[in-house]
Amino acid sequence: MASGTSKLVIIGGGNMGTALVGGLVHGGWNPQEITVVEIDATKRAVLEADYGVNTSEVIVSAEGALVAVKPGDVANVCAQVSGLGIHRVLSIAAGISVRTLQDAAGASTKAIRAMPNTPALVREGVTAICGSDACTEEDFAWAESILSAVGVVVRVPESQMDAVTAVAGSGPGYIFLMAESLLAAAQEAGLPAHVADVLVRQLFRGAGILLAESSESPATLRERVTSPNGTTAAGLAVMESAGLRETMHNVVKAAAARSAEMGK
Ligand SMILES: NC(=O)c1ccc[n+]([C@@H]2O[C@H](COP(=O)([O-])OP(=O)(O)OC[C@H]3O[C@@H](n4cnc5c(N)ncnc54)[C@H](OP(=O)(O)O)[C@@H]3O)[C@@H](O)[C@H]2O)c1
Repeated sequence: MASGTSKLVIIGGGNMGTALVGGLVHGGWNPQEITVVEIDATKRAVLEADYGVNTSEVIVSAEGALVAVKPGDVANVCAQVSGLGIHRVLSIAAGISVRTLQDAAGASTKAIRAMPNTPALVREGVTAICGSDACTEEDFAWAESILSAVGVVVRVPESQMDAVTAVAGSGPGYIFLMAESLLAAAQEAGLPAHVADVLVRQLFRGAGILLAESSESPATLRERVTSPNGTTAAGLAVMESAGLRETMHNVVKAAAARSAEMGK
């Protein structure tokens, strides 16, 4: 159970809330400085046992609050956070605008909106943040100090949040579909399932790390592995003629439009 005032109260101990707790504790935060508010007693017990954090069934006061509940519950939670005198609230709920957060939190609590993605579960996420006009550099730095525990953080104007959602929020789904298709193709090409599985998983990991750690553009990296008239060139020619580039444009456009629609 919670004792004293925590540095951070995390409301919602589900997938994302737990990923953040893991990232913070792994990154050196004292677990006793974190209180997780979670309705489910089983999840509370697991959080206490796995990470040594305080837990509570009801929202408790802290220096700042991170809201990781379902979007429909966020405004109510922000109002409660503000009612407890907490001065900063950071929401990771998809589609809930800074305006909605700030209106619910009132004038005494600064509201910041974040859009993380699921690689946060393995501390390799990317999160975009934006804040209300009331937010200062210190408020953004506070949000970054929390979210950087689960990956890279970028600041964007809120007008770019639908595009961020379409690229990075939904992006893992695009990558997993490619992996799924490649896995099926690998087996059709004669590889046993267990071999295909290892090849595909390690391919995405290795290529992903290579891309993330390189200062070269994806285009340059692609050119380097493509000898004229070689095997990669033969495969890429099929991707190009199938219209992969145009498809990616349409994928992002559709996801961004859906994000805008859901935010209304
Ligand atoms: N998962 C993602 O990829 C992702 C990416 C970006 C943003 N997000 C956002 O992150 C938020 C959380 O997503 P999630 O996947 O972690 O969901 P989740 O696993 O369902 O976690 C939410 C947790 O909060 C609990 N909860 C709900 N209302 C509460 C309250 N008032 N006080 C305390 N606990 C409460 C829920 O309990 P019950 O189950 O009993 O309701 C649940 O355990 C969502 O708003 C989502 O939009 C998620």
